[in-house]
Amino acid sequence: MKIAIFGGSFNPVHKGHIMIAKDAINMLNLDKLYFVPANKNPFKKVSDYVSNEHRIEMLKMVLENKMEVSDFETKRGGNSYTIDTVKYFKNKFPNDELFLLIGSDNVTKLNKWKDIDEIASLVKIVVFNRNNKYSKINLKKYNCLKLKNEFHDFSSSQYRSGNLSMVEENVQEYIGKNFLYFEDIAKSFLSIERFKHLRFTAEFAAELAKNNSMSIKKAYQAGYMHDITKEWSEQKAYSFLKKYGLNEQNLLPYQLHQTTAYYWLKDKYKYPDLEVLEAIKIHTSMALEMTELAKILFIADKICQGRTWKGVQNMRKIALENLNEGLKIVTQVCALDWNIEKGIIFTDEQEKIYKKWAK
Ligand SMILES: [Fe+2]
Ligand SMILES: [Fe+2]
Repeated sequence: MKIAIFGGSFNPVHKGHIMIAKDAINMLNLDKLYFVPANKNPFKKVSDYVSNEHRIEMLKMVLENKMEVSDFETKRGGNSYTIDTVKYFKNKFPNDELFLLIGSDNVTKLNKWKDIDEIASLVKIVVFNRNNKYSKINLKKYNCLKLKNEFHDFSSSQYRSGNLSMVEENVQEYIGKNFLYFEDIAKSFLSIERFKHLRFTAEFAAELAKNNSMSIKKAYQAGYMHDITKEWSEQKAYSFLKKYGLNEQNLLPYQLHQTTAYYWLKDKYKYPDLEVLEAIKIHTSMALEMTELAKILFIADKICQGRTWKGVQNMRKIALENLNEGLKIVTQVCALDWNIEKGIIFTDEQEKIYKKWAK
């Protein structure tokens, strides 16, 4: 049998990984290809990784014919060196032909790999195209085979900076459901100050939820996500909302970021909890009917750490003691009075909403 080993962090597995695996299976006429997710890359910080279980689960969701996941490195724990993995497979399949798939970006450092000569003697190193720069010397020295695959511009790091189209839809559903990579994505979408505000809102929302015996997790996540699209331009926001039938005529600028956040989280990030999403959708405008969670998010957003309203400490105290009393004073001070002071003219609908919840 012809068997290939395809190691990597798969953090998360993206469309390019699958294309490479398919190319390798076809071009090398493989009987089996094993994805071997790393427990920890010795050159990377551990905090960059989501858990082994999650990365393996996501891999399992995208396997095609002749593909499998090996938990050798994750089960073994600690730092994984390629030589250990290669020896393990050689042991397991002593009479088969083994291939080791690596990206062309790794070729230049190949001579620094632990026990590279032994690796090259046990398996055929196959180099797939990732970019055009690689060392031809190493390629020859270790008798590598160059795969003539088409280069696909997919990467996990692009995913983590918010390019969600890098992964398959079912992988994104898994990510949204388990709230993975959100911190990385938020950091790349937002300025440091805004990102801090997400944290502070999440923390205060969690505190409010705790005092009201509500789900701390939901409140925290609502706070953590609520301003995810706040720094999009108006143009970007309206263009994103076009497919939902929303435009300059039926959605005012101040309603934009709560609306884009709702749709982006629901349809792109695929966050599934509708109660949380609905709270985010009205976190600026409020609504005539509000769930307890929506009240919590509104309050937390307005008076969390970092907010400097006059009397903010007193408002925090009131809100922590009594949610509805807190909502009254926060709506009065931070929505109604503040907007009036700024000379903002409300729509009738908006005035009705603020007045319902204010003091
Ligand atoms: Fe907001
Ligand atoms: Fe906010």
